[in-house]
Amino acid sequence: MQLKTAVSARSASPWSSIRSLWFPAIIILFAASPAFSDDIAKGSSGWQQRCAGIRTSYNPQTELRSDLLTLETNDPRWPAFLAWVQAQQLATSTLIGLRTSPSTDAGKGIVFRWAPGTPWEQEVVIPFGQALAHLLVEREWRDLDFPQFFTSRGGMYGINLAERLFLLDPHSLTPWQQFFQAITAPSSPSAPLRSGRLSAVAPDGQSISMTFGANRVVPYSAARLSLDLRSILSDCSVYSFFQLYDQQHGAPPVASQQSPAPAASSPKAQSAVAVTPGRTVYDRHCSGCHGVNGDGKGLLATSLRPPPRDFTQGLFRYRSTPTGQLPTDEDLLRTVTAGLPGSLMPAWEPFLNEAERQAVVAYLKQFSPRFAPATPRDVLPLPSPPAATAEGVAQGEKLYRDSGCGSCHGDTGKGDGRSGKDLKTAEGNPIVPRDLTNKWSFHGGHTPQDVFQRLSTGMDGSPMASYRDVFSPTDLWNLIFYILSLSPPERPQLTSPSPAG
Ligand code: HEC
Ligand code: HEC
Repeated sequence: MQLKTAVSARSASPWSSIRSLWFPAIIILFAASPAFSDDIAKGSSGWQQRCAGIRTSYNPQTELRSDLLTLETNDPRWPAFLAWVQAQQLATSTLIGLRTSPSTDAGKGIVFRWAPGTPWEQEVVIPFGQALAHLLVEREWRDLDFPQFFTSRGGMYGINLAERLFLLDPHSLTPWQQFFQAITAPSSPSAPLRSGRLSAVAPDGQSISMTFGANRVVPYSAARLSLDLRSILSDCSVYSFFQLYDQQHGAPPVASQQSPAPAASSPKAQSAVAVTPGRTVYDRHCSGCHGVNGDGKGLLATSLRPPPRDFTQGLFRYRSTPTGQLPTDEDLLRTVTAGLPGSLMPAWEPFLNEAERQAVVAYLKQFSPRFAPATPRDVLPLPSPPAATAEGVAQGEKLYRDSGCGSCHGDTGKGDGRSGKDLKTAEGNPIVPRDLTNKWSFHGGHTPQDVFQRLSTGMDGSPMASYRDVFSPTDLWNLIFYILSLSPPERPQLTSPSPAG
């Protein structure tokens, strides 16, 4: 797991001068903002009353939509809109907690309160997958950020939050509930980490910075911010912006006979695939990282290196089948259920029931034509390991040296071998060999059998090949015992560099 770390220097960018350019506009906007009474303003019916009958250059002939924000990021009004959003403190949010009560997946998720203290204040339930992508990828939440919580629960390993909570109980949401209870308590030192705000906007409105907690500055694209804004705003609830924009840009253009306001083009509308239960789960929980089209280019994972798997390639690493063959449904289900430790692929058992996990597996297979013919798969044998002996480990060390593992993984297994520097995946993304001295970071698990499976199947799409035809099973076991001997007997604990949480 490697993340491009957001640089805080970004906040002191030349954009600050741009913001001052907008200053006069902001003053006018503040002055002109209508005084709202809370009861009218909150809820869409309140807004509907307010925007009824209002016509601007954006909606010359129709009512403003109260169900949707249709303003596109390439609209000429967009940069001014963001300046207005920033001035009204609309893009300010606080994480409130978990909602688990409804029996259907649709109402469950992580709750954020947006625009607190403004007429636009609203609680939004974000689907678990999207919220995880936000917390893990964009905010980079790790156990080290929350020492109070984890020190009393077995300590910290320097891993992402979802993986650490999964280790507390892989089958339920209880650790998540306890975690959110702890960090939302008024006395919690982690309280500041829960909030975020729009902190800088480039003049073209396309590059944006969000700041989370005290100083974690995260670059956003316009498309990314627009996703958040669409969850809290409608054309109707921002009618005062459209009015002010016209005031500042003179009379509305005459030629705007076209309207109604353009409908938001959603990627879903463009795709011909039918809406199935699997697709619903995928769009809600997986698309933020893997992309709505399965190409690994999710809007919330643009900074993730290597990126989430591109399903359109049909190449999977964690299989029970020989090199070149597709994974079985059970292989995919296992990955989805337990996640891939050491990566940002979360475990879904706490969040999705078995039927939902099966449905999403069926759906993700549709992204690659490789799955189309129902080709039979061979499942490679997975024997029980023999007892490890000192001679076996010594033999394994010799095999490690003789067979070139060290050229990539390094002589001591740290993952720093000379040929390991410029490796690429089949999709062309850089990848580094695993650190073999930390078996807890093996994505496919670290029991002897897990490692046996990786070495015999190979990891398709990655430079890590199959060694099934290279070694006898006995040699393979010895090699594995040697590799596992490189890790300390107990998982090393870390202490927080800065006790922020
Ligand atoms: C927070 C981002 C994130 C989310 C959300 C996410 N994934 Fe992943 N996923 C990843 C990453 C990163 C990888 C690649 C990890 C690796 O190479 O070890 C991955 C890999 C995978 C793989 C490939 C396994 C293999 O054998 O190669 C599958 C299958 C998968 N994810 C399914 C899902 C499904 C289904 C969902 C939604 C229920 C989902 N993912 C949600 C980040 C995510
Ligand atoms: C060409 C470079 C290269 C060589 C040679 C190589 N590896 Fe790897 N290995 C990798 C890379 C890259 C990964 C990470 C793959 C990924 O995440 O997709 C990896 C991953 C692994 C993993 C982790 C599997 C998991 O579940 O995360 C183990 C164990 C491993 N290699 C052992 C070996 C052994 C033993 C040898 C020699 C027999 C070897 N490797 C040779 C590049 C190499």
